[in-house]
This record gives sequence, C-alpha cells and structure tokens, in this order.
Amino acid sequence: MPTTTITTDETASTDGALGHILLHGDELLRAESPDPQYDRPRELSRYLLMHYGSFEDTFERPDHPLAGAYGYAHRLSEALRAAAELTGCRVRDALDVGCNVGGVSHELARWVEDSVVGVDLSPRAVEVARRVTDAGGGSFSVVRGAGTRTVRFRLPDRRERAELRFETGDGEALAGRPGGYDAVLVSNILDRVADPAACLAQFHDSERILRAGGLLVIACPWSWYPEYTDPAAWFGADRPDHSSEHALKAALRDRFTLVAESEQAGVLCQNPREYDYFESHVTIWQHR
Ligand SMILES: C[S@@+](CC[C@H](N)C(=O)[O-])C[C@H]1O[C@@H](n2cnc3c(N)ncnc32)[C@H](O)[C@@H]1O
Repeated sequence: MPTTTITTDETASTDGALGHILLHGDELLRAESPDPQYDRPRELSRYLLMHYGSFEDTFERPDHPLAGAYGYAHRLSEALRAAAELTGCRVRDALDVGCNVGGVSHELARWVEDSVVGVDLSPRAVEVARRVTDAGGGSFSVVRGAGTRTVRFRLPDRRERAELRFETGDGEALAGRPGGYDAVLVSNILDRVADPAACLAQFHDSERILRAGGLLVIACPWSWYPEYTDPAAWFGADRPDHSSEHALKAALRDRFTLVAESEQAGVLCQNPREYDYFESHVTIWQHR
C-alpha cells in the first residue's frame, strides 16, 4: 500500500504551480515505509530539493562549506550542451535514464530542440516528475529538525522548453526508438543497477537508443553497494589495479570517442545539519 500521498487534481489549490502539493510534510515524519528506496517520501523529498530547490532552500547560510555542490542538475546539463557545441552534434531528442523526479530532464529541456524523455524504475518518482511538469512547479516538504518546512518552486515558461515526457521503465532494458536519440544521459545510476556492463552495452549494441554521432553522458560517483550490484560486476572488480573510471573507459573506447571529462559535485540534504555530498565522475562520449 503506497504511503506517499501525491495530490490529485481536485486537491491541487487554485493559486497555480506553487500551490500544487507534491509531497506532504506528515509523510516525512512517519517511520520509513518498506517500499523500494527511491519510492520513499524522504528520498523523494531529498531529490526534489536537489533537483528543484533554490540555493537558500538547500543551505541556510551563503558560506556553507558545501555551497559549491549546489546546482548539480544544471551543471550536468550544461556539460552536455558544451560537448554538443564542441562536436557540432545537433541534439533534437534526448533521453535521461534514471531521471528520478526529473530535474535534469527539465534542465535539458531548456536547450534541447524537440523532446526530452525521462525514464525511471520508481513509479512515484515518475509520478512526481509528471506532476511537476504539468503544473509548472509545485510545493513539497523537507525535514527541518523535529518538523518540516515547505519549499515552493516554479519552472520557466513551458513554451520556452522542449516537450517533456516521463515514463516508468527499466534502464537496463530500454526499448529505444527508430533512429535512436541524439543524446543519452545516465546520471548516478550505473552503480545502482544489477548489471552495469549490460546497461552500458545497450548504448553501443543498437542505434535504437543512441544514434551514430550521438552523445552519451556517464555520470557516476562509483559508489558500489552489494545490495544493488553483485561485487563481481563492479567496474574494475576484475582488475584490482584498475579503478572504475579506468574500467569504464576500457569498456567504451572501441566504439566511442571521449569528448569531455570532469568532476561534478552534488548534495542531498537530510536536514540542515546532515548532508550527503558526492562527486560524480562525468565523461561525455560520441558514438562512432
Ligand atoms: C541515485 S538516483 C539518481 C537520480 C538522477 N539521475 C540524479 O542524478 O540526480 C538513481 C535513480 O536511478 C533509478 N534506477 C535505479 N535502477 C534503475 C533501473 N534499472 N532503471 C531505471 N531507473 C533506475 C532510481 O529509481 C533512482 O531514481
């Protein structure tokens, strides 16, 4: 039985996007549900804040030591945009694999020409992403000490962005589409799937997912857990002298050209005195 209450259209208030309630505060104060991690209210709240929250909503003081990690979704999208400019790759249609509540997809939709599709295994994350898109923003709760606080956000005018669609689906078994996408972004999910090598192989085994000449973004902190991935399948596990970064490059270099490499920090806020900081290794590849 789902414990996340997402407002229906009848309960959404009439004062536009900001009144559209995506997540209620009382859900965050209950014991964690047995649902899969990314369906849980606290996890949805953390990702809503990371993807859509303002700087002030994320950090309560401007000189916070983690301040530089703000804006991960925007920076990742800009890294792909820069790679597209560098290579002359025209990005009409993009796919965001493991999109969660959709913040990176929304950032892409600001400059991708025609459409962005976000896919995630979590039905609740996809539901929230759709509601954000339909309402053009919304409000949600975050944990603050012993209580909760409401965060409101509004997205740019939808007429100024590419078409956005969110689907529940398995990033390890993508259907693709005739002709493939111009760009595929895989952010912080390769170390969360059962078979990361097979997940990656989809992008070079078939042009139904990524067309020849298209761009592939792999962002990952390489933070492996046996709960998600058998240790034998961790990138670099077969060569103790090799890092996951090295293993990724070895897996892709025959079919892709490395266009850009960077580190992108990000932060998920539990409450103002507890944050999860990560640094994703970001490589951008052009499919030969
Ligand atoms: C660590 S979060 C990353 C979210 C987002 N891409 C980002 O970088 O902020 C991992 C996401 O991958 C999704 N996920 C995990 N396994 C998946 C799979 N096999 N197919 C699609 N999504 C998956 C989870 O539901 C979750 O939303």
